[in-house]
Amino acid sequence: MTPDVGQDVLLASQLLRDGKLVVVPTETVYGLAALALDSDAVSNIFEAKGRPANNPLIVHVSGKEMAKSVVTEWPTIADELVEAFWPGPLTLVLPKARGVPDITTAGGDTVAVRCPDHPLFLALIEQVNEPIAAPSANFSTRLSPTRVKDLDPVLLTKCAYVLDGGDCAVGIESTVLDLTSDHPTILRQGILTARDLSAVARDVRSSTDATGKSPGQHALHYAPIGKIVIVDSLRSDQIGIGILTGSFEAVRLPNDPKAYAKELFASLAELDRQGVDPIYVEAPPHEGAWAAVWDRLRRASNR
Ligand code: TXA
Ligand code: MG
Repeated sequence: MTPDVGQDVLLASQLLRDGKLVVVPTETVYGLAALALDSDAVSNIFEAKGRPANNPLIVHVSGKEMAKSVVTEWPTIADELVEAFWPGPLTLVLPKARGVPDITTAGGDTVAVRCPDHPLFLALIEQVNEPIAAPSANFSTRLSPTRVKDLDPVLLTKCAYVLDGGDCAVGIESTVLDLTSDHPTILRQGILTARDLSAVARDVRSSTDATGKSPGQHALHYAPIGKIVIVDSLRSDQIGIGILTGSFEAVRLPNDPKAYAKELFASLAELDRQGVDPIYVEAPPHEGAWAAVWDRLRRASNR
C-alpha cells in the first residue's frame, strides 16, 4: 500500500476491482467509472446510464505507456499531441488492441484514450494500475455533471461510491480527435480547438458529420428537463443564462469561452432544479473559440 494514497482513492480502487461503478472527478466533467478491460463491469455502465450499446466509451489512462497498451498503433503524431496536451481534455481515437473488450468500444476496431488532468482520478488509475472506462456520469442525453451536487440521485443509487474531487475546472467534455483517418479529425468539439491542436498536428480537420464515427454525437444531448431556447438577447421577463444583457432573473456568465464553458452545465442544472422551463440562453459570440460551447448549446436546444 502506497502511504500517500488517500483512503478515498483506496476505497474507490477496491470497489472498481470488485466490478462496481464509481463516480470519478475529471477536469472536464464527472465520469461513471469501471475497469475498462472487465466486460461485466463495463456492461454495468451501459445499464446504469441507459446508454445505447453502439456508443463506445473513453478509456482513461495514467499516461502514454498505459495508452500504448490498449492500442495497436502509436503514430508520431500521437506522441507529439500527448506531449503537448496530456494530462488534459484531449481524447485520441486509435486502432484498438485485442485485450480491450468489444463492449468497451461498442464492437468497433478503434479505442478512444485519454489521460485526465485530475490528481484524484490519476491517483486512482495508478492505484488500480489498469485503464478505466468512464463516460460522463449522467443518464444518456441528459446534462453532464460538473459538480457533485449535480449528480442525478437516481443514477447514484446504481453507484457504489463517489470520489469527490470538487468542481470540474473545464466544465465540458474533452475534444475527441480521430487519428485513424488521413487527417487528424475532430469528432467532438472541446475546449482544445482545431487551432490549438494545429500548433502541434498539421492539417487538423473538424468532422462535419461525426455521428457515423462517434455515435455519441446525437442531435439531442446535454438536455435539461426543461426546454432550452436560444435567443439573441434576453428580455426582462425571460429567465435563463445571459452574457451581456439580461434581467436580474438571468444567470450572468463571463464573456470568455473557457470561463463560460466552466459554468454552463452547472448553471443549466441549477435552473433546471428550480423548474425553469423554458430556459432562455442568450446566443454567445460566434468566433471559433466558442465552437464547443455552441456545439453543446445546439444539441441541448434541439428538441
Ligand atoms: O471529458 C470527457 O471526455 C468525459 C470525461 C468523463 O472523461 N467523458 C465523456 O465520455 O464525455 P462520453 O462517453 O460521455 O463521451 C465519449 C464520446 C462519445 O461521443 C463517443 O461516441 C465518443 O466519445 N467515442 C468513444 N470511443 C470512440 C471511438 N472509438 N471512436 C469514435 N468516437 C468514440
Ligand atoms: Mg456523455
